[in-house]
Amino acid sequence: MGFRKSAPSAIQSVAAAVTTMLLVFHQMGLGAVWLVSPIQAKKEIETILKVPPTMALVCLVAVGYPDESPQKDRRPLDQVLEFVS
Ligand SMILES: Cc1cc2nc3c(=O)[nH]c(=O)nc-3n(C[C@H](O)[C@H](O)[C@H](O)COP(=O)(O)O)c2cc1C
Repeated sequence: MGFRKSAPSAIQSVAAAVTTMLLVFHQMGLGAVWLVSPIQAKKEIETILKVPPTMALVCLVAVGYPDESPQKDRRPLDQVLEFVS
């Protein structure tokens, strides 16, 4: 089980779940932001949210109704992504 130390599957599961949540929120017309910096106050936030000792706070996701729709100039996908085989 050594691989779990170098590539913790729990963290990867959280990342997959948050990514999916962000896509669903977007589909619902909501704005959402993945936040990890608040984890600097992990203990304090866990106390406020009453996170049970068997669980650990990994990140926060702020969700709301956006009051603006910023337009971004994004490069085409084929300019930023390449599949290698
Ligand atoms: C794992 C992860 C953690 C992040 N943590 C923060 C954070 O703590 N604070 C922050 O301002 N943005 C954070 N971001 C970036 C925002 O979630 C978001 O991607 C960024 O604001 C760009 O959003 P936009 O593409 O909608 O403009 C994080 C992104 C990722 C992937």
